[in-house]
Amino acid sequence: MALAEAGRIIREGGLVAFPTETVYGLGGDAMNPESSKKIYAAKGRPSDNPLIVHISDLSEIDRVVRKVPETALRLARRFWPGPLTMILEKGEEVPLETTGGLETVAVRMPGNDIAAALIRESHTPIAAPSANRSGRPSPTLARHCAEDLDGKIEMILDGGAVGIGLESTIVDLSTEIPTILRPGYITLSMIREILPQAQVDAGIIRADSGIKPKAPGMKYRHYAPRGDLTVVRGTRQAVVSYINAQLAEVSARSLSGGRAEKTAVIATRETASSYQADLVRDLGSRKDPEEIARHLFGVLREMDEENADVIFAEAFDDTGIGAAIMNRLLKAAGGKLIQL
Ligand code: TXA
Ligand code: MG
Repeated sequence: MALAEAGRIIREGGLVAFPTETVYGLGGDAMNPESSKKIYAAKGRPSDNPLIVHISDLSEIDRVVRKVPETALRLARRFWPGPLTMILEKGEEVPLETTGGLETVAVRMPGNDIAAALIRESHTPIAAPSANRSGRPSPTLARHCAEDLDGKIEMILDGGAVGIGLESTIVDLSTEIPTILRPGYITLSMIREILPQAQVDAGIIRADSGIKPKAPGMKYRHYAPRGDLTVVRGTRQAVVSYINAQLAEVSARSLSGGRAEKTAVIATRETASSYQADLVRDLGSRKDPEEIARHLFGVLREMDEENADVIFAEAFDDTGIGAAIMNRLLKAAGGKLIQL
């Protein structure tokens, strides 16, 4: 059976891509420094960017973490298994290769049956970043993992489309004030119901603030399509008019002898039919932000598959899961936001 085979590969130091409820992960034995080195090599990822250690039962946390604070237990009881990663003091057995040289470790219990079964079959915690080549959008389908990593890893477990589509919320509990280092499906207000003092890392509130984010991975260029992506915020009518005017300019430029540029818009169900672009993709309805989240990375990948040169995307409200959507979208755009 595939899962038994996958568990054997992990135990023997190989790599397996597997589904979680957030995005697909690229798994290796978290306790084996050679496995972690292979993960960095397969992804083409800088080795100072630490991996997340995945467990399948709370009893396994003592192998990974030096001391489990009460705050972590309270969050675990409320949100695990689920899309929440906690930063805690590293246990001795976890190699520095897994934590990118840090004395802290990121740990999460994924809420996906295949992920949980793989961890159990492997008899070891699994270190897993998202299963994409470094810099590309995280994979939300097994096909995305194959596109990025085929030939570089031993196996891909296909669990179909993931449920959430954005990576887990990361909360740092190694400092006095619980701090969100990466927004996700679990929002600040959900965490504040358990830990009222929680806050958001200043480095991620604004992409252009110049403040260095605390999660090493958040400082890297990420998710960016090859085309030039701009995010546009304003009322629905203003956004549609502005983007169409920009698209008309690009077409005029192409017609007047410039290189023909392929235009694209990342739109919503409500607006998709209003744009005059070579390619229009609909993320879903604005009334259903979870649908938008689920489709975002796949659509960003399509921009490359379709060779889009000039891309405009509509902005979203920063509330609830919108904070995570905008965080990923603005990273993909290198912070380029037009405020109308
Ligand atoms: O949903 C997820 O979290 C997915 C699935 C596979 O579980 N994994 C994931 O891993 O997104 P990755 O490696 O793509 O992102 C991990 C992030 C990076 O930004 C990294 O810098 C940060 O977590 N991180 C890991 N360990 C850390 C630590 N000790 N301190 C601060 N940030 C840490
Ligand atoms: Mg990643």
